[in-house]
Amino acid sequence: MNGKIGVFDSGYGGLTVFKEIIKELPQYDYVYLGDNARAPYGSRSFETVYKFTLECVQLLFDMECPLVILACNTASAKALRTIQQKDLPKIAPNNRVLGVIRPTTEVIGNYSHTKHIGIFATEGTVKSESYLIEIQKFFPELNVVQQACPMWVPLIENNEHLSEGADYFVQKYMQSLLKQDAQIDTILLACTHYPLILPKLKQYIPDHIQIVSQEKIVAKSLKEYLQRHPEIESKIGKRGNRFFYTTAEADWFNEKAELFYGEKINAKKISK
Ligand code: DGL
Repeated sequence: MNGKIGVFDSGYGGLTVFKEIIKELPQYDYVYLGDNARAPYGSRSFETVYKFTLECVQLLFDMECPLVILACNTASAKALRTIQQKDLPKIAPNNRVLGVIRPTTEVIGNYSHTKHIGIFATEGTVKSESYLIEIQKFFPELNVVQQACPMWVPLIENNEHLSEGADYFVQKYMQSLLKQDAQIDTILLACTHYPLILPKLKQYIPDHIQIVSQEKIVAKSLKEYLQRHPEIESKIGKRGNRFFYTTAEADWFNEKAELFYGEKINAKKISK
């Protein structure tokens, strides 16, 4: 068995999810791919995010990944459905591509007592309304408001997210979200980069509000998926190998990736 689980993100953010996936499922072989040369995806059009994501999914298929996880909310919001419905049947009918929005929306309603939640995400994810649509299916009684945080990914990618300069944009987006609904008791971080800004968020968040980050939810859901789908699980190698690729310069990637992954990474550059 040479199959691997592919984990994809526009750049570094998916490493926060990957870290939790390997804690939950250390035995499998994995390939992580960050499209750093073309990140961030957050403010790009539907067509562009779809095109870039499909190209990267194809690269992962070429690297023998019968299962690819889009560990990126923006790609999950803008590209996943089309890839699943239109492309997969043509290019790789036996392969599977999963996202991070579905597993998160299946459980998010269980966290809130007031049934009022807020979502922080990229502009692309907010505009797609994917969270609103999916949450409505599982928790129709839930009141959901969203806030786009376009400055957070650049702050995080430049390692400025815990600097004094970040306070302004943390307070600004927090105030805009809470102004929309005073009854919020739960805030979801719906961007895989945002767990890094959590320490700063905690300085400003009112005590009665909890923050939910999705990495553990996604990892647990992947474990359950593999249990339900032995036809996919049986294709994945179980030697604990982890390969990392970036579409940008490997040295840059390796330096910053440690922030997200918590350990040193030795990635290779792959051309897109
Ligand atoms: N990590 C991506 C997400 O979860 C966002 C980063 C980007 O804008 O490329 O939405």
